[in-house]
Amino acid sequence: MRQPEIQLTPSGQLRHFIDFDGLTTAHLEAILTQANGYLGPQGEIINRPDLAGTTVMNLFFEPSTRTRTTFEVAAKRLSADVINIDIARSSTTKGESLLDMLQNLEAMSADMFVVRHGSSGAARFMAEKVCPTIPIINGGDGWHAHPTQAMLDMLTIQREAPRPFSELSVALIGDIKHSRVARSDIAALKLLGVKDIRVIGPRTLMPKGIERFGVQVFHQMEQGIKDVDVVIALRIQNERLGSALLSTKEEFYKLYGLSEQRLALAKPDAIVMHPGPMNRGVEIASSVADSAQSVILKQVNYGIAVRMAVMAMTHAGQSESAIEQSASEVPL
Ligand code: CP
Repeated sequence: MRQPEIQLTPSGQLRHFIDFDGLTTAHLEAILTQANGYLGPQGEIINRPDLAGTTVMNLFFEPSTRTRTTFEVAAKRLSADVINIDIARSSTTKGESLLDMLQNLEAMSADMFVVRHGSSGAARFMAEKVCPTIPIINGGDGWHAHPTQAMLDMLTIQREAPRPFSELSVALIGDIKHSRVARSDIAALKLLGVKDIRVIGPRTLMPKGIERFGVQVFHQMEQGIKDVDVVIALRIQNERLGSALLSTKEEFYKLYGLSEQRLALAKPDAIVMHPGPMNRGVEIASSVADSAQSVILKQVNYGIAVRMAVMAMTHAGQSESAIEQSASEVPL
């Protein structure tokens, strides 16, 4: 028998945000609605005291600019206190386990953990085994998932793409195999009703059997990008260049780089996205990254609103869960 989804309360509210397993279209639409509520008419962030009196702890075991900083900004916009744990100077370097570290931080009254970790499954492990009553938000785990990136991509598409989700063609380009963003984007696009999802890249950077997720696979950029509405360029992981999986930067750009000429094959009103950090001249030309069709910096701003929404919703879900739990313990 399938276990109840740890991310949800018994009544179906979000209480962790780890990946898209067990989530429905309604959950994603609720996140988008709440995120839109934190944006003013010009896309500016609106402060709301939804997390007043709480402490959010950021645990980033891998480097990050956008995710860590926008989580910090988002928590402060919701009136939370934020503590960034300096992993490189923490006692994990002396051999302390993740379990012990979290239990100690819990004893310091942490109300929420945002975690990025190199191991796939780290966030789920924390939610299941370590602190099920504290919201765990996944800021990216291994190749597995980056769900808040996917939701900020969905908010960007909802607000900036020329047509509604059900009418869009969306192409993800580059290193699909190692990309947690690609996995989460595909799951979210499907839940929101996008029918034409394309992945474009060399065979060596394409996960085997990806077609079973309902995407079309292209190894030729000019074919894959034709007439799409949304182009999502993915980061080429420099550590893979020159390996058996990938030749040189120059060779990659020649075959799969998002140039002006290739973008011209997409619909004229197509938008260009990239999760960052970008390798200009490798997966994307500077002239495209900085063009009028690029919404890359809007993605970053929308990331604050999405992270505010996910933090507020998981905090409310855990509070509701605690009330349900104490009600069930009242003797008859
Ligand atoms: N998109 C993204 O995850 O960027 P960072 O690695 O800078 O957080």
